[in-house]
Amino acid sequence: MIQDTRAINSDRSDIETLDEIWLFGYGSLIYKVDFPYLESKPAYLCGWSRRFWQGSHDHRGTPDKPGRVLTLIEEPSERCFGIAYRVTADVFDHLDHREKNGYLRLIKELEFEDVTRKPGVTYIGMPNNPAFLGPASDIDIAKQIHISEGPSGTNREYVELLAEALKAHNVKDPQVDAIHVLLQKLDSRRDA
Ligand code: SIN
Repeated sequence: MIQDTRAINSDRSDIETLDEIWLFGYGSLIYKVDFPYLESKPAYLCGWSRRFWQGSHDHRGTPDKPGRVLTLIEEPSERCFGIAYRVTADVFDHLDHREKNGYLRLIKELEFEDVTRKPGVTYIGMPNNPAFLGPASDIDIAKQIHISEGPSGTNREYVELLAEALKAHNVKDPQVDAIHVLLQKLDSRRDA
């Protein structure tokens, strides 16, 4: 189900308390950077892990046939690689619109490669949001992604661009890699 979180996110005033605003991207915000920023660097969100558990009814799927995109789930023993962008507060109108389907704009602690820590703003589809699809087997996730497409393009492209971007940073993510390989297998089965 679709949920438009723009009103909730734009009411949040907590970014005003930050002396620097660091936006953390762990999915499409790694490779589709359609907003201005002052600097960027790799970062980690400790205690969180990315999963293809969020429904995409607006970008990589449709209301009738949602795709699957990333959200973060709490996983105390893990940390999630991403890119942190130092931004100004005016980017959030655009980002709240882009990430409006169930994502809440939350402040979590980021760790940079030099081990310094700073608060970071990140979009998370929490398990109680109506667009949350939750866990499924890798093959079921890959099958759903394989057939999904929306206004921003195919769901397969979302995974491919992410896999390329993670590879460029020498980051291995077991679920992204597994789904990427399964998508290639599904492609070759279709082409056979
Ligand atoms: C993100 O990239 O940080 C949020 C999820 C997405 O837009 O793919």
